[in-house]
Amino acid sequence: MAAEKKSPFEGEHPNLKTGVGSVTDSRPVAESTWLVEFAAPELAEAVAPGHFVMLRLPELYSPLLGRPFAVYRADRASGRVQVIYLVVGNMTGRLSQIAPETPIEWWGPLGGGWAPIEKEGNPAARRIYMAAGGIGYTPFYMLAEKYAALEKGPELHLLYGARTKSRVPNLDDFRALGVNVKVATDDGSTGAKGTVSDLLKAEGLEGGKNALIAACGPRPMLEAVFTAAKSLGSLPCWTSLETPMSCGMGLCFGCVVEYLGEDGKADYRRTCVDGPVFDAYRLKWN
Ligand SMILES: Cc1cc2nc3c(=O)[nH]c(=O)nc-3n(C[C@H](O)[C@H](O)[C@H](O)COP(=O)(O)OP(=O)(O)OC[C@H]3O[C@@H](n4cnc5c(N)ncnc54)[C@H](O)[C@@H]3O)c2cc1C
Ligand code: FES
Repeated sequence: MAAEKKSPFEGEHPNLKTGVGSVTDSRPVAESTWLVEFAAPELAEAVAPGHFVMLRLPELYSPLLGRPFAVYRADRASGRVQVIYLVVGNMTGRLSQIAPETPIEWWGPLGGGWAPIEKEGNPAARRIYMAAGGIGYTPFYMLAEKYAALEKGPELHLLYGARTKSRVPNLDDFRALGVNVKVATDDGSTGAKGTVSDLLKAEGLEGGKNALIAACGPRPMLEAVFTAAKSLGSLPCWTSLETPMSCGMGLCFGCVVEYLGEDGKADYRRTCVDGPVFDAYRLKWN
């Protein structure tokens, strides 16, 4: 069951769709980490790598507001969309308990996705390093899928870091695309002992090697990856931010981040409409 509605924000967000679709799959993929799949053919058709979607459970009044989630996978043929989430609070706790066929309200696709890395980054990069911490691997599958489909696409690497083995999801989706996956855990219970930035520093990228870094994860991890990128000869580094959001559509200004303008002066940008992907060199980190 998938009922699509016309968006009331069509003028401002020409690509925005809204709808209510049934849950077709819901299952754990790692400790406190779940996958939910729902029917949303218009979203599956329109979504691009790095876009996010707002989700709400229309049968509940709490939480009243939607929550933002990266689209992990979208299958145009079946019209199904997958989101993977970490249970941290009200919405994610309730989502993890829903039964198949529960209606889920969505609006999206939102944000500009990873498009800036091609427009303003290094379009000729031959090595893409996807640096992900915790649940921050979710916006990367569609990016990897896009590059893997290119005949002479870049080398793809996923450097993934988590606290401990039980928090590491199955990353075979990435391996199946030909992505070179490396894992680190804080306690060394699987993969290398250390962090994503340690993995990055061990890649021998000094001097550039035509590499581009795309990062997503908790802010301290993003900052460490950015510091590593700078130390490796100012490698291009783009970050997808998971700033808490209320509307997801540019209306409430609840998601602003400090951003350095062309003149080096601090300004503000809304993560939902101006991001969520930003050039790490333009963000104010502390
Ligand atoms: C563009 C974007 C993409 C995202 N993609 C994903 C994704 O793919 N998977 C995923 O699991 N999460 C993702 N997030 C984060 C997700 O939106 C939050 O985890 C979710 O809103 C929490 O809702 P809740 O009702 O369960 O938690 P709440 O009950 O609202 O909050 C519980 C606790 O979590 C904290 N919290 C809430 N939101 C955030 C946040 N964004 N960052 C840090 N702390 C927060 C609150 O301060 C509070 O302490 C994304 C966020 C953004 C902005
Ligand atoms: S979440 Fe409302 S302006 Fe970004």
